[in-house]
Amino acid sequence: MSISPQDFDYVRSLVCDQAGIVLENGKEYLVESRLVPLAKRHGYDSIDTLLVALRRADATLRRTVVEAMTTNETTFFRDIEPFEALRKHVVPELLAARSASRELRIWYGASSTGQEPYSVVMMLLQHFPQLANWNVTHHATDISLEVLERARQGKYNQIEMNRGLPVAYLVKYFEKCGLEWQLKPVVRDKVRFEQMNLVKPWPALPVFDIVMLRNVMIYFDIEAKKQILGKIRRQLRPDGYLFLGGAETTMGLDDSFRRMQFDRAGCYRTSEAAAGLSMATRGAA
Ligand SMILES: C[S@@+](CC[C@H](N)C(=O)[O-])C[C@H]1O[C@@H](n2cnc3c(N)ncnc32)[C@H](O)[C@@H]1O
Repeated sequence: MSISPQDFDYVRSLVCDQAGIVLENGKEYLVESRLVPLAKRHGYDSIDTLLVALRRADATLRRTVVEAMTTNETTFFRDIEPFEALRKHVVPELLAARSASRELRIWYGASSTGQEPYSVVMMLLQHFPQLANWNVTHHATDISLEVLERARQGKYNQIEMNRGLPVAYLVKYFEKCGLEWQLKPVVRDKVRFEQMNLVKPWPALPVFDIVMLRNVMIYFDIEAKKQILGKIRRQLRPDGYLFLGGAETTMGLDDSFRRMQFDRAGCYRTSEAAAGLSMATRGAA
């Protein structure tokens, strides 16, 4: 079952229009590998017949196809360094800066099946017990309803548990549930998951102290990246922090961000906040 050039172009423009995801020439294999099982599951005997139905504008099928073309790869404590930077530098600094309001808001803009927000919640519970008296919001969003549903359930299989989760956290925050592991409510109930498409008009959002937007902009074109970064700037508190994936940067896209280095982790602040910080550091020296 290989995809025709016309069908590939059709899927490519649908996915770009609906999710901002760019499928380069040569990605036919990816479309095939995602759509063949989807076609079978939905009772179509080939990609061709799936595409015939898709062209008839069945909104649910279109959404399912777009979701199937998203890459949802994630792990607990993915790339560990950003979580270390949060623990050692960012959270202590924000704890001091927000000691009057005792409020902290974190947004995960491509949360996939939930390991990223849940990793932060576990880390905060473990290392910052004083936050128990704070109002801490974890707002997690993703375009895919399927991953959001999985994230809300907070159930993971053994392979997912083996990827990045320290044993101490497994013992403390999970319980065995058949062949899977269920996250305890003390962690699960702290995260609110909602659908949000980064490349469509954004809903009203509060301002955030920390934005985690990791490993999603790599799929978008330059214009979409610029627009998203511009909007994030307005959603980030002036002294807030933005975390991107290891292969992502604001460089060449938005001059108002400056990269900050914490040990081996890079993150971003607005230029004013970064300048303020370096003046404060110089003042203290
Ligand atoms: C590779 S995962 C990254 C998960 C997590 N942030 C991490 O770094 O481990 C990318 C996620 O972005 C989501 N995504 C793709 N396009 C999106 C869009 N236009 N708006 C919101 N989320 C999107 C996908 O559904 C997927 O779950």
